Amino acid sequence: MAVSSYLKWAALTLATAQLGAAQTYTSCNPLNATCPADTGLAKWEFNTDFTTGSSAFSKWNTTSGTVESTSLGAKFTISEQGDAPTIESDFYIFFGRVEVKMRAANGTGIISTTVMESDDLDEIDWEQISTYDYSIETDYFGKGNTTSYDRATTVNVTTPEETFHTYTVDWTSSRIEWILDGEVVRTLEYADALNGENYPQTPMRIKIGIWAGGDPDNGEGTIEWAGGETDYTAGPFSMYVESVKIINYNPASAYKYTDKTGAYTSIKATNGTTSTNLASSSSSAQAASSSSSSSSKSSASSSASASASASVSSAGWIAPYSAFATIMATLIASVFLL
Ligand SMILES: *[C@@H]1O[C@H](CO)[C@@H](O)[C@H](O)[C@H]1NC(C)=O
Ligand SMILES: *[C@@H]1O[C@H](CO)[C@@H](O)[C@H](O)[C@H]1NC(C)=O
Ligand SMILES: *[C@@H]1O[C@H](CO)[C@@H](O)[C@H](O)[C@H]1NC(C)=O
Ligand SMILES: *[C@@H]1O[C@H](CO)[C@@H](O)[C@H](O)[C@H]1NC(C)=O
Ligand SMILES: *[C@@H]1O[C@H](CO)[C@@H](O)[C@H](O)[C@H]1NC(C)=O
Ligand SMILES: *[C@@H]1O[C@H](CO)[C@@H](O)[C@H](O)[C@H]1NC(C)=O
Repeated sequence: MAVSSYLKWAALTLATAQLGAAQTYTSCNPLNATCPADTGLAKWEFNTDFTTGSSAFSKWNTTSGTVESTSLGAKFTISEQGDAPTIESDFYIFFGRVEVKMRAANGTGIISTTVMESDDLDEIDWEQISTYDYSIETDYFGKGNTTSYDRATTVNVTTPEETFHTYTVDWTSSRIEWILDGEVVRTLEYADALNGENYPQTPMRIKIGIWAGGDPDNGEGTIEWAGGETDYTAGPFSMYVESVKIINYNPASAYKYTDKTGAYTSIKATNGTTSTNLASSSSSAQAASSSSSSSSKSSASSSASASASASVSSAGWIAPYSAFATIMATLIASVFLL
């Protein structure tokens, strides 16, 4: 069974995000609203070496908890209930390759995860469940569609909680490859994701963090998926991320949804004055046949703020978790008031 990591995780982090960053936390799903453009990575490659100290975090925002800089890399720790330290890139990429060298947390029910996620809830995941120190899951979602849970696969990996491994996603408009230590372990073709309907294809941010799938307050299904209840007294549980290498196949300073289809051909990439519609771009592996005009004048969208996806609420089944989020928000708020 697979569950959308991002949706559950977001419910956790939302509780803190709402308090810490209420001003920057916007909710906009481009499938049913007109949203500000996404801030893009305007270059081909961006590498982060988290062993070099806190300056390595300059393009990463901590959206929940605290992430420490250590000689082993960025350290994400769960010490107690409610901890879900998370960082996310402050830019989006539009097709590309993301390589994360990391060591997962140990314990029971702790999920160490790298998620690529877009404003309309396309999602590509690596999720290591601490209960199983010999495997990792791959997963994906399109447009927040969680109605079918047959998308995950489990991949064997040697002692992921003691050893650093490199977990890569190579994402084009025609296929997604999950690559473990340089070896392709899964390929998803566009057509195999409900004829593309469920295929992740909109600009994504990279989110890295851990959360407790085995939290006793979680739903039974989630706890079961996480391999049992988390015993916080056995902690703290830490994941380390040594480095992240990002390639953006369509570098641009902004990405704009030009309609509400969520199709990659509807995304306009701009650099202030120049713009490209991917349908006419050669850098994507599978350019659409229709040569839509790329001459549309660029809107002044280059400075648009990235929209955080509080659109978790668009998934109906998040409801059970929102109660937990509310409780957490209340708890945290009361701590602030003391
Ligand atoms: C990330 O942090 C920067 C600077 O603190 C801020 O300007 C930006 O809006 C943040 N991005 C997101 C997506 O929250
Ligand atoms: C988790 O890792 C830490 C540090 O390597 C180790 O001390 C601890 O025994 C491990 N716990 C489990 C449950 O394997
Ligand atoms: C969601 O995906 C499932 C297949 O995984 C499909 O049967 C269903 O029609 C999709 N729903 C929408 C709204 O696209
Ligand atoms: C993964 O490991 C399990 C148990 O160790 C084994 O049965 C299975 O064949 C392995 N799968 C692959 C694809 O190597
Ligand atoms: C934006 O600028 C970058 C860096 O010069 C370039 O690689 C990229 O192709 C440009 N993108 C667009 C959409 O013009
Ligand atoms: C539109 O998106 C919002 C969240 O962004 C969601 O609450 C709402 O149900 C969506 N409406 C439709 C028709 O999809």
